[in-house]
Amino acid sequence: MVELRRQLWVWVFVLCSSAVSAFSSTHVVHIWSMLLFCWTSWYIGALGARVICDNIPGLVNKQRQLCQRHPDIMQAIGEGTKEWIRECQHQFRHHRWNCSTLDRDHTVFGRVLLRSSREAAFVYAISSAGVVYALTRACSQGELKMCNCDPDKRGRTHDTRGEFDWGGCSDNVNYGIKFAKAFIDAKERTVRDARALMNLHNNRCGRTAVKRFMKQECKCHGVSGSCTLRTCWKAMADFRKTGDYLRRKYNGAVEVTMNQDGTGFTVANKAFRKATKNDLVYFENSPDYCLQDKEAGSLGTAGRTCNKTSRGTDGCEVMCCGRGYDTTRVKQITKCECKFKWCCAVECKDCEEAVDIHTCKAPKRAEWLDQT
Ligand SMILES: *[C@@H]1O[C@H](CO)[C@@H](O)[C@H](O)[C@H]1NC(C)=O
Ligand SMILES: *[C@@H]1O[C@H](CO)[C@@H](O)[C@H](O)[C@H]1NC(C)=O
Repeated sequence: MVELRRQLWVWVFVLCSSAVSAFSSTHVVHIWSMLLFCWTSWYIGALGARVICDNIPGLVNKQRQLCQRHPDIMQAIGEGTKEWIRECQHQFRHHRWNCSTLDRDHTVFGRVLLRSSREAAFVYAISSAGVVYALTRACSQGELKMCNCDPDKRGRTHDTRGEFDWGGCSDNVNYGIKFAKAFIDAKERTVRDARALMNLHNNRCGRTAVKRFMKQECKCHGVSGSCTLRTCWKAMADFRKTGDYLRRKYNGAVEVTMNQDGTGFTVANKAFRKATKNDLVYFENSPDYCLQDKEAGSLGTAGRTCNKTSRGTDGCEVMCCGRGYDTTRVKQITKCECKFKWCCAVECKDCEEAVDIHTCKAPKRAEWLDQT
């Protein structure tokens, strides 16, 4: 769908610019017909954006409007979605819940998780972070009409190491945060309930997490790298940093209940510390994710590979929930007997190795359960 939009805009651009050059080369300045032509092409393009924005499932009105006004952001949001899903699956690759409930749902807008669990809190946070990240990057790369490098990072300033000039392109993370907030939070603002408040809170945690990992990069100039002159810029760190941070926040997430007047949260267990604005919050306990339960967002662990020797969450005992596992022997090609050859190559042989793959057994009553 996004591809189609791209093609439409390219088409508008090509037609319009070829019209302009054709008109000017014949020196017949049919300015009005030219304008009419360009306007028509633009209109068809805008219509295209409208059709596309109307066909993305799960957008609320406000999001549709933003999509129509800035059709080029949808590409960036799509990229952001791929990125956060990849990161989420990386963070939970050794766990029963591995973030793959979301595989079919390649939008940040769709129903994410029904249960107000710790996992839902993480998904809302990391998806918001992903959108901030992708939008900010797209701004810096000049892919979007409405934003650019950070306009405030100009001129001369100083830090602990002395004076320097802002140069290059500083990532405009504040813009990314602002737009992601308008776009993603729009959905939660259509309802006023506890879950919406939880989502808004976790969305914010995710957005601000990206900003935490902005780093200043500098280049030295001056006689033989003496660094008498420096130019610096602000850049976002790798998204993995944000993923790792939010993963720690997931571990320390706080179970809360709504407070009496419905404006904020109270920690559910009084023995625990209060939730700060940087903590992820959730309302409901997680299922154990052992069995398939679509309602709870659990796919079950039948068929998952596990590690026979590990005592952690990826160990067969934990992963398979005590149901046991099947072992299959597969052949794996590895590089071996590598030799250094003068000069300068490393030559290896392909060796065949048999490795055991362990996969969790399905629950015994699975067939019976499937039929009901
Ligand atoms: C996650 O788990 C499901 C089943 O529990 C499995 O089908 C899927 O391949 C797993 N995904 C990843 C990325 O490991
Ligand atoms: C399995 O777990 C052990 C112990 O934690 C670890 O040393 C090993 O690398 C793991 N194997 C695989 C294939 O991940």
